[in-house]
Amino acid sequence: MKILFTASECVPFCKTGGLADVVGALAPVLAEKGHDVRVMLPLYSAVPHDYVKEMQHVLDFEVELGWRKQYCGIEALVRDGVTYYFIDNKYYFGRSYIYGMGGDEHERYAFFCRAILNALPLLQYQPEIVHTHDWQTGMISALLKIQYQHLPFYAEMKTVYTIHNLQYQGIFGIPEVQDVLSLDNSVFTDDKLECYGCANYMKAGLVYADEITTVSPSYAEEIQTSYYGERMDGLLRARRQQLSGVLNGIDIKEYDPEHDPLIPARYTVEDMSGKAVCKEELQKELGLNVNPDTPIISIISRLSNQKGLDLIDRVIGEIMEEDLQLVVLGLGDAKYVDLFSWAEQRYPGKVAARFKMDGALAHRIYAGSDLFLMPSQFEPCGLSQMIALRYGTLPVVRETGGLRDTVLSYNEANNAGNGFSFFNYNAHDMLYTLRRALYFYRSQKDTWALLQRRGMTGDYSWMHSAEVYLSLYRDMLGKQEAPAEEEKPAVEEIVAETPAVEKAAPAPVKKPRACKPKAEGEAPAKKPKASKPKAKAKKEE
Ligand code: GLC
Repeated sequence: MKILFTASECVPFCKTGGLADVVGALAPVLAEKGHDVRVMLPLYSAVPHDYVKEMQHVLDFEVELGWRKQYCGIEALVRDGVTYYFIDNKYYFGRSYIYGMGGDEHERYAFFCRAILNALPLLQYQPEIVHTHDWQTGMISALLKIQYQHLPFYAEMKTVYTIHNLQYQGIFGIPEVQDVLSLDNSVFTDDKLECYGCANYMKAGLVYADEITTVSPSYAEEIQTSYYGERMDGLLRARRQQLSGVLNGIDIKEYDPEHDPLIPARYTVEDMSGKAVCKEELQKELGLNVNPDTPIISIISRLSNQKGLDLIDRVIGEIMEEDLQLVVLGLGDAKYVDLFSWAEQRYPGKVAARFKMDGALAHRIYAGSDLFLMPSQFEPCGLSQMIALRYGTLPVVRETGGLRDTVLSYNEANNAGNGFSFFNYNAHDMLYTLRRALYFYRSQKDTWALLQRRGMTGDYSWMHSAEVYLSLYRDMLGKQEAPAEEEKPAVEEIVAETPAVEKAAPAPVKKPRACKPKAEGEAPAKKPKASKPKAKAKKEE
């Protein structure tokens, strides 16, 4: 299949969040399975020079944006079997930031979407699937349907829109958007591009894409409710037949304690001694008291409300009364920078906070910590909890979105689980769960080792989810399914199948499937697999 990914960020070229990890990891996996996969990205000035040097200039042309004409260069490089096309325009992308500060986001990403669509015939490249990600590329489906699909070149293209985070929607004034995209009033109605008096790029994707996916089965359900729906729940309910949740994977080569060159000592399930070295080195590096028995709880996160940090704020005093150490790495809102800077001063030797993006330090923290705290208010998928599991660092999470689909709270009654979780968005529920985890850390060493083992042997790769995407694409194109490959179970299946199995879960041959939320009048849809034993686990706790 000819598959085009369009996104505003992608590792290793530019990253502000998980979107970049997902696009950067999924594209090569699809290519490895024999598909023609290409990715279109903005050529930000943040793209490292080494990659820019590798790029070939393919062509350039002018893009019309209302009354303006803008230069657009297409620079290309091939990596891991994927062709990356970079949209070059210094005025829009040659800035010191990726998002947000110039007051012209509507124009930058209108340019990006328009440039992508106009580049295709010039490149003589006719993708069958155009897979768009988040609000920055939401307008592609709308423009395609409204302005391009009467042309034979574009007529057969199908679009997928993936929601990585429904909170960020790209909301702008209607006249400004009309001005740059030449869209008339007839499409600014509430069933199309208008949204509470504004133009909304996320909504454009949700209305016009042929299929909508989001990054976990639970989030696909949640966003159809008003609590999680960010004012899009009605639309998402109306489009539920086209909405499915496909769990993200992580790059299991990058995050591998057995071979990770970025950590002080490597370790495996059989020999965990390297993890103790990583812990000691981390304590030294961050100026924490060096003590192998003091549990380290880490947070690696965007410092935003989404991540549940106000729960920590509420009970920080009670958390720090425990014999533990807290490590924080991330960038974000000033109020959380203040909170953790204050804590670092207040609890010397017990708290270390670093406010930056530092991939190598992140590896050392995942490896050197005992617990990973992620009490998110909502979490479309979340990648860090899976990375933590892989490093034998047990997650403490709130049961929401992808956290619910990947972490099953330990249940003494049947020995199931791979971490600890709580349901209510409540600081003391979090504190209680943290204390419960600390109890197992201190007093139930066998159980702790069992949970670590489960975490480290789970399958967080892209193999399963990549098949789910491929089967979605095939369905959209009316193609036959290729013969099923041998597959390992996906992480949500492992979570569901954890009971008392001490070894890595077996590898049954499974048909790929997406989790479709149920339609009205249908028999109740199967709940996302991970949630079943969880409900049980809760009752029996
Ligand atoms: C966003 C979401 C996160 C998800 C990531 C990749 O950053 O907040 O939950 O894992 O996108 O899909």
